[in-house]
Amino acid sequence: MTSNTQQAQAQVAVIGVGRMGRHHARTYKQMPGVQLKAVVDLDEERAHTVADEYGCVAYTSVDQMLGEHPDVGAVTVAVPTQHHRATAQPLLERKIACLIEKPLAPTVTDAKALVDCAEKHDAVLQVGHTERFNPAVRAAEALKFNARFLEVDRVSPMTFRSLDVGVVMDMMIHDLDIVLMLAQSPIKTVHAAGVAVLGKHEDVAGARIVFENGCVANITASRLALKTERKLRVFSESGYISLNYQTREGIVIHTDGDNRKALAKVRAQVAQGLDLSDLDYQDIVQVKELTFDLPPGEEDQLTAEQTSFLGAVRDGSRPTVDGPAGYAAVDAAERVVAAIKAHKWEGMEGSALLLDGAEDGV
Ligand SMILES: NC(=O)c1ccc[n+]([C@@H]2O[C@H](COP(=O)([O-])OP(=O)(O)OC[C@H]3O[C@@H](n4cnc5c(N)ncnc54)[C@H](O)[C@@H]3O)[C@@H](O)[C@H]2O)c1
Repeated sequence: MTSNTQQAQAQVAVIGVGRMGRHHARTYKQMPGVQLKAVVDLDEERAHTVADEYGCVAYTSVDQMLGEHPDVGAVTVAVPTQHHRATAQPLLERKIACLIEKPLAPTVTDAKALVDCAEKHDAVLQVGHTERFNPAVRAAEALKFNARFLEVDRVSPMTFRSLDVGVVMDMMIHDLDIVLMLAQSPIKTVHAAGVAVLGKHEDVAGARIVFENGCVANITASRLALKTERKLRVFSESGYISLNYQTREGIVIHTDGDNRKALAKVRAQVAQGLDLSDLDYQDIVQVKELTFDLPPGEEDQLTAEQTSFLGAVRDGSRPTVDGPAGYAAVDAAERVVAAIKAHKWEGMEGSALLLDGAEDGV
């Protein structure tokens, strides 16, 4: 007989247990009130390995899994992006809640089809933009500053993974999602340039996005860097925020209170033409650490993401990163890639990708 406790537990499955999906399986397994029932992967051996590790059943077919576990009401979809729509659409049609890994889809057409399908069938759709659950990002979001100017850098050494897409869809999409959340305005214009070194897709990209409300974002992404750096800087009339995604730390300099007085004094001294070259800017303004009280167990971003997803499933609320947000990020990424392709360098033939053709041995 099933106990009340078991009945209240969310029954979940993970579809695609490669590099990312196995983390979803591990995290679900550790969450109280959640029963990981099954994993599905076309690679039978991989499915069995992960299922054995996390004590659930392995399948190579979603239909077979649902036939044997009809109570599974929520799944993570972590198959390669080009298969997101084909995998998730039939699930959404059955009202099964889907946490689809980022990016929502490889094209806006697929992304829109998934959003429309979820709306039509009243199914929960969350997109795996895990960075939204970074404590530093949550702390910055909670300040509710009007973002006026943003600078973002996400550079890493080459891992030789995800080479079927460019760095914009692979890495910059994390920042596009955050920037869209902070800018709170539709995109007006996009200028971008990119460099393809290892294949036909860009490995390095720089974009300047202007929003209809005047906010400007300069975003750089590289998967060919010699170091790892993930930074976001936000300028606003309310203050300045600097985040390090990697260390999950941040600082804020508010422009009110004592800082306002200190800055007014310095402005007056500058206007008088005083020599301030011995003054240290850091001694003038008060710099505060960004802190965010995370609920117990949610320090890990993936756990926080899954908790948010299952919360939306349970109470019918809108997920933190819903389908339209996932669509907006794909749309922004497509616009950046289109701008890269449209960019021309004087004296260079053909595509704007600086080393395009490298895959042909150029
Ligand atoms: N949130 C993040 O930071 C992050 C990081 C890496 C990858 N991702 C995303 O996660 C997704 C998966 O990426 P990955 O790196 O784990 O890929 P991967 O290739 O390591 O794993 C994909 C798995 O899906 C399986 N698979 C393929 N088609 C399938 C199908 N139709 N049904 C069932 N299983 C199928 C493959 O056998 C493989 O085991 C992608 O959308 C990627 O963009 C997100």
